[in-house]
Amino acid sequence: MFCMDPSNTTLLYVLIALSFVFGVMAVIPIGGADMPVVISLLNSYSGLAACAAGFAINNNILIVAGSLVGATGIILTNIMCKAMNRSLANVLFSGFGAVKTSLAKVEGEVKPITPDDAYYILEAASSVVVVPGYGMAVAQAQHVVKELQELLENNGAEVSYAIHPVAGRMPGHMNVLLAEADVPYDLLIEMEDINPRMEMMDVAIVIGANDVVNPAAREMEDSPIYGMPIINVDYAKTVFVLKRSMAAGFAGVDNPLFFGENTRMLFGDAKESIGALVREFSS
Ligand code: TAP
Repeated sequence: MFCMDPSNTTLLYVLIALSFVFGVMAVIPIGGADMPVVISLLNSYSGLAACAAGFAINNNILIVAGSLVGATGIILTNIMCKAMNRSLANVLFSGFGAVKTSLAKVEGEVKPITPDDAYYILEAASSVVVVPGYGMAVAQAQHVVKELQELLENNGAEVSYAIHPVAGRMPGHMNVLLAEADVPYDLLIEMEDINPRMEMMDVAIVIGANDVVNPAAREMEDSPIYGMPIINVDYAKTVFVLKRSMAAGFAGVDNPLFFGENTRMLFGDAKESIGALVREFSS
């Protein structure tokens, strides 16, 4: 109608206001770990809008660039939905009408460990899996992690890295960080390949990861991250969790892993904690 009568700008303002309300209403029910999927979908929409604008003003560059952004955004959205074992419709609409249930409080005994005690366990381990997450990026711990990997290998242990598709804050975040530290690419193992081997692992070292190793996603139906595939570190013989506090991760939910029988919490900045382990090994 605005195109037919451009002098009537009221319609345009009404449309802008409605679009604004629609945009806000569409995204507010979506929370927790679904956020990156929505961001990627909105990115894709921006490409489609640019493409439509290209058709409107007959600009080939806008059409091509818009199509590329639109297509890659939707492919990435699809990859992330698959990684979380959800359909796009479920991500977008499962929040509507959802009644907020009070989450079961996760309680138990936390078992802290010092770097020298952790060293004794690592020294005796023959298979170690490192599970990096957002905290490794914050601490910029990738270089010391590589040092620890080499020390463990020299000690006769087999070291691998378990990579969750949504670990960190962007797709491939962990791969990029580890590549920066020259970690060989063949040591990086995807979630679905490492999980069946987890029970054979002597030690799993979780470095600043939280949601991607949260067993609540497997076990607690009322958890906002229920159904998201995780790296099953709790199946390893011993789990070290390196983080600064008991704080929740991106999705804001408690993590029963921290209270596990076989879990030891190594509190502190990841770079400093790994540095302390490296010093124990070197001396
Ligand atoms: P998170 O669940 O965000 O947990 C990161 C943990 O790192 C926190 O619990 C934090 O605990 C710890 N940490 C922060 N700084 C640290 C430091 N300097 N040293 C040691 N630990 C530190 O990370 P995750 O397991 O990688 O999961 C990623 C989350 O982000 C998922 O929920 C995912 O859906 C979401 N997300 C992913 C993407 C993509 S595409 N990868 C994009 C956006 C969002 P403390 O504060 O106690 O130290």
